[in-house]
Amino acid sequence: MQRPRVLSGVQPTGALHLGNWLGAIRNWVDLQSSHDTFVCVVDLHAITVPHDPTRLVDDTRTTAALYLACGMDPAQCSVFVQSDIAAHSELCWLLNCITPLNWLERMIQFKEKATKQGDNVSVGLLDYPVLMAADILLYDADLVPVGEDQKQHLELARDIAQQRINARFGHDNKPILKVPEPMILKEGARVMSLTDGRSKMSKSDPNEASRITLLDPPELITKKIKRAKTDPERGLEFNNPDRPETDNLLGLYAILSGRGRDAVAKECAEMGWGQFKPLLTEATVEALKPIQARHQELMADPSELDQVLAAGRDRAQTVASATLERVRTAMGFSART
Ligand code: AMP
Ligand code: TRP
Repeated sequence: MQRPRVLSGVQPTGALHLGNWLGAIRNWVDLQSSHDTFVCVVDLHAITVPHDPTRLVDDTRTTAALYLACGMDPAQCSVFVQSDIAAHSELCWLLNCITPLNWLERMIQFKEKATKQGDNVSVGLLDYPVLMAADILLYDADLVPVGEDQKQHLELARDIAQQRINARFGHDNKPILKVPEPMILKEGARVMSLTDGRSKMSKSDPNEASRITLLDPPELITKKIKRAKTDPERGLEFNNPDRPETDNLLGLYAILSGRGRDAVAKECAEMGWGQFKPLLTEATVEALKPIQARHQELMADPSELDQVLAAGRDRAQTVASATLERVRTAMGFSART
């Protein structure tokens, strides 16, 4: 029997941070042995906001290398670059023509990003969730492991598949596209900013002190945690809505130290920040050490990564072309031979 399929991706915009790892990539790593897993670097998404063309290729490779460094094993999964597979752009166009404009206008992430960009908002930014739907639907994905912020985009992908493609163009109850399920794990699904516990850690925050990236050296991690926002209370606790920073830092410590929430809640119940911050720093530095070492190895010798991405591209191509052909045929285009 075929294993259930997983598809996910991260944009190669700036360095990946703890939120990307704990909210998304860590879950892919856990799924790869039991699921047929495809993970891509979504470089076409990265150009929906102003980007630097001289950095796109390097950022894409670094992101792919980080997937491997975080534990994605090319013997068990397929790692590829989104723009290597032209079917993503092509399916996006087909889906564009059947997706109502007002579905896109109500996307929270679009509204947030558009506000930041004033009058320089591209059509691509609005269309971003349709491209994401194409990414997912091309691979007949059963499961899409992402952080909490992507939930609305996944619902859109489900609605497009179900209501706009299957219901309109399918025959005899035979679905054309598989309707995917989101997979959002509670722990780590929303890592918050170090400078504001009420907003999420994000690559686009202009303040670099707000995030710890996977490639930050130990000195920088120490500095960022030392400066992280806290509160004047003594004793650390989870789930106090008036102490979002405490909840976030304690949550990070629970995951990064591998000790879990119960143990950490007990350990830190009476602690002050002066005692806690060095513990969190050490846990973070230790957790990132093997990732950084492996990343460095992969970047030093391009051939291994080249091979992984070529193999991933070939597998992705086979699956994606078959799905695209199904949609094309259903929408009335003649078969490509
Ligand atoms: P992005 O950085 O927008 O390309 O996001 C890539 C993946 O990381 C997606 O699955 C996001 O949901 C996840 N992610 C991004 N930021 C966070 C965060 N602060 N906490 C948890 N997950 C996140
Ligand atoms: N929009 C996602 C994010 O920023 C990235 C993404 C693009 C994605 N295509 C995807 C995630 C397909 C999962 C599946 O986080």
